[in-house]
Amino acid sequence: MRICMIGTGYVGLVTGACLAENGNDVWCVDIDKEKVSNLQAGKIPIYEPGLEEIVKRNVAQGRLRFTTDLKEGVANSLFVFIAVGTPPNGDGSADLKFVFGVAEQIGQVMENYKIIVTKSTVPVGTTYRVKEILARELKKRKRPDVEFDVAFCPEFLKEGSAIEDFMKPDRIVVGTENSRTAEFLKELFAPFMMRENRFLSMSIPSAELTKYAANAMLATRISFMNELARFCERVGADIEEIRSGIGSDSRIGPAFLYAGIGYGGSCFPKDVRALIHSAEQSGNDLSILKTVEKVNQDQRNWFLEKINDFYEGKLEGRRFAVWGLSFKPHTDDMREAPSLQIIPSLLKSGAVIVAFDPVANNQAQKILGERQGLSYKDDPYEVLEGAEALILLTEWPLFRRPDFEKIKALLKAPVIFDGRNQYNPKRMDQMGFTCVGIGREINQTSKKINASKPSNGKIC
Ligand SMILES: NC(=O)c1ccc[n+]([C@@H]2O[C@H](COP(=O)([O-])OP(=O)(O)OC[C@H]3O[C@@H](n4cnc5c(N)ncnc54)[C@H](O)[C@@H]3O)[C@@H](O)[C@H]2O)c1
Repeated sequence: MRICMIGTGYVGLVTGACLAENGNDVWCVDIDKEKVSNLQAGKIPIYEPGLEEIVKRNVAQGRLRFTTDLKEGVANSLFVFIAVGTPPNGDGSADLKFVFGVAEQIGQVMENYKIIVTKSTVPVGTTYRVKEILARELKKRKRPDVEFDVAFCPEFLKEGSAIEDFMKPDRIVVGTENSRTAEFLKELFAPFMMRENRFLSMSIPSAELTKYAANAMLATRISFMNELARFCERVGADIEEIRSGIGSDSRIGPAFLYAGIGYGGSCFPKDVRALIHSAEQSGNDLSILKTVEKVNQDQRNWFLEKINDFYEGKLEGRRFAVWGLSFKPHTDDMREAPSLQIIPSLLKSGAVIVAFDPVANNQAQKILGERQGLSYKDDPYEVLEGAEALILLTEWPLFRRPDFEKIKALLKAPVIFDGRNQYNPKRMDQMGFTCVGIGREINQTSKKINASKPSNGKIC
């Protein structure tokens, strides 16, 4: 089948590449000239495991092309996907100017029947507005004879495992106005459902809301666990034990129950806010989600307070090693990463930060800029040298089983602030570390430790 993918970011590039890998002819269109020429030269603008090979293979085999010419992409395709960004406006609402701009451009160039599929995450009613814009542009061109259908097909891929998620989806949700469009899309996605039919066809508004509801539910689970983690510390319970206790209940399930320093990324924060906003527009108060959002913000401050309390408010001149900068492992995406709040706040308190991330050092440098007291290293152990403590912000697998003896030898004091509960506090205790995690009993002990003179290495 012939497909035009407009917007070659995380979603558009992965979708376009995976559709080409399954034998389709794909034109990927982007307005970013540099991105397009890099892609034409085989340079992938994002870090996503497995993506580079698929892109290179399909470009070489002539099924995947990159262009800035939207007209060329549209002319060659039956399906036209809109996968541009929907960033947040100041009030939390989704900024739809890129989606509507693309709809306008498609309406200005299409000459024959197309299925226009919105893939960007958009509030209920957006796909109908896309339809109105297309009809308006065709009318302007005196081409109301050009037929088209619209659909909404949300993307559920997770950055870091995007290829796997796309190739083996839990489900494919499609919102259409008629069964003909649903059948076309079912045919397009059939190769991804060979083992089991996971195609869910529904109305366009339901599909639009399904995407927001899914992200809001996952964010709610995270904030629930984070809030509970704070309570755990007060009463001597361990959030990790509670996680296994409740996650084993088949009604609850184990996913997205990890306490930490809050969710980030390009989707959860913006989608929760956009859902709150669009509900408000129709007179509904999504009070649970407002709390989810607040708990997420508070969680980072609470983690910072733990560090601050540990050093009795004296962070001035203390040097910390930071492991992990991206918002989650296996990506260099820094959008709304907890590190973007935690690092500037520590610097503001006078601390010195030496940071390492396996892939996001460059991205972080671009966003955080040149700041006094902040530097980066390409080796996880180099950042530890002479630091008062290690602060773990992203749970890259590399950090799960590090060389603890080496860490101890390099740090000034064997102290770890484990923002992702990667280390068992009891085992860390046996190895001579003070490990301050999230919602874990050991924190009660660490609070009692006088760490105001940590440089002799004897915290306990
Ligand atoms: N990133 C994710 O993990 C993810 C997952 C599911 C859904 N989504 C949703 O998918 C959408 C896209 O997200 P993303 O992360 O891929 O965004 P992105 O910012 O990585 O990519 C968007 C791309 O669209 C291009 N673009 C903007 N205007 C254009 C135009 N007029 N013509 C052609 N290209 C244009 C930009 O240059 C950019 O390359 C958003 O609505 C997002 O919420 C994202």
